[in-house]
Amino acid sequence: MRDPLQWPPPTRTCADRTGAARAGGEQAAAYRCMIVPHDRLARTREGFAPLPDASPAPTTNRLTDRPDGADAVFSVGWRLRLRFTRRSLDPANHTLRDVIEAEPGLGAARVLTVIDDGLVRAGGGPADAIEHYAGQHRDRIQLASAPLVVPGGESAKNDRAVFDHVAQAIHDAGLCRRSYVLAIGGGAVLDVAGFAAATAHRGVRLIRMPTTTLAQDDSGVGVKNGINAFGKKNFLGAFAPPWAVIVDPDFLLTLSDRDWASGWSECVKVALVKDASFFEAIESAAEALRRRDLDTAATIIRRSARLHLAHIAAGGDPFELTRARPLDFGHWAAHKLEQITGFRLRHGEAVSIGVALDATYSTLSGWLSEADRERILACLRALGLPTFDEALGRDALLEGLEEFREHLGGRLTVPMLRGLGIAFDVHAVDHALMREAVARLGDEAAGRGSP
Ligand SMILES: NC(=O)c1ccc[n+]([C@@H]2O[C@H](COP(=O)([O-])OP(=O)(O)OC[C@H]3O[C@@H](n4cnc5c(N)ncnc54)[C@H](O)[C@@H]3O)[C@@H](O)[C@H]2O)c1
Ligand SMILES: [Zn+2]
Repeated sequence: MRDPLQWPPPTRTCADRTGAARAGGEQAAAYRCMIVPHDRLARTREGFAPLPDASPAPTTNRLTDRPDGADAVFSVGWRLRLRFTRRSLDPANHTLRDVIEAEPGLGAARVLTVIDDGLVRAGGGPADAIEHYAGQHRDRIQLASAPLVVPGGESAKNDRAVFDHVAQAIHDAGLCRRSYVLAIGGGAVLDVAGFAAATAHRGVRLIRMPTTTLAQDDSGVGVKNGINAFGKKNFLGAFAPPWAVIVDPDFLLTLSDRDWASGWSECVKVALVKDASFFEAIESAAEALRRRDLDTAATIIRRSARLHLAHIAAGGDPFELTRARPLDFGHWAAHKLEQITGFRLRHGEAVSIGVALDATYSTLSGWLSEADRERILACLRALGLPTFDEALGRDALLEGLEEFREHLGGRLTVPMLRGLGIAFDVHAVDHALMREAVARLGDEAAGRGSP
């Protein structure tokens, strides 16, 4: 078995990968998904023949002189330390201690802790535990100040004052580039704290401890940080890989049922674009996830986080320099839905609706079978996730396509499905057909038609 994080990955076609996935080969999950332009796909009904991935190859550093100057080509190496553990703040657990680098002659590393107030509201929060932990590991960890508690949820990304507050705390604590910001919270707090860490001194080390299902199975392992501005999601932000990510499912115990369910949509999403066998695993786990079985949750989270990280490490384009972003399946609509509902919908809920919508569009377009679409929608519902919202019917929804294009740059590129675990890109969306997809989801939500 090869290591899924090995670089470079073997080049395989979607057809190969899906075959392996159907055969139950879990390793198939980590293979690069070839993104196939829709126009090319349509011409190759038999013998599906994807084009080579356009992702840039790893570069060799070099300086090439030209008559009018020079071209410098260089790559930057990163190590992102992803760790899965339980009881992470018990001093007997050395996971956190061990990801903090010991620097000979410099003493303990300085650490500023930023905590999501949702944890505090849910009963205590980890501030005392962090202080106790640091006290037991004072040779390695020196808290630079008392833990900073910031508002959790999307308001943390909408209110610029939260970003300023974290940046100010980094300044006041005198952190340097070899210090650490330890962010403990949901995806929103991690995004804000990560953006402050990425921009202070042009980059202070960031350790994330995600505390929601969504942050543990998706956003926490990613390389993106940011806040919302000018009415647009993630308008201000930075690609900056975290130093380390520590995933501890014990944090999930205090989540509301709504936030517990919300995060499973990102697992379904990554399974649909990368790994059919993982989709089947989620289907089988849905009932246990619904009753909040923590061991099942830990297993699903671990597989999803690893798939997301494999895409970053081995997908060839961690900073999204090309247009292919299969992990954004369902996201053009999701981001717009969050915005036009004034963030009444959680990100994960909006993703669930966006996945249902693009799966339905894929079926109406003749790419995805009706049976596969029904399985996707049934799985989302079994996980306690929505597949429709009245806001889908608003005219503003389709503006999300143009905003998505602008955010990515270049021409419109939207992932669609031609099977479970098989994504491909389209560069145009038929608005009338998309409205038909919305109408179909609306009918089904109202109990008219199936599923
Ligand atoms: N950077 C990325 O790559 C990336 C990827 C996906 C999503 N995101 C972003 O993540 C955000 C959504 O994150 P989310 O789903 O984690 O929700 P969230 O961060 O909005 O948190 C939801 C609620 O749960 C509370 N909370 C957090 N942990 C808790 C716990 N253990 N117990 C009790 N309450 C707790 C929060 O205070 C908040 O009220 C969105 O802004 C989305 O855009 C970022
Ligand atoms: Zn997402």
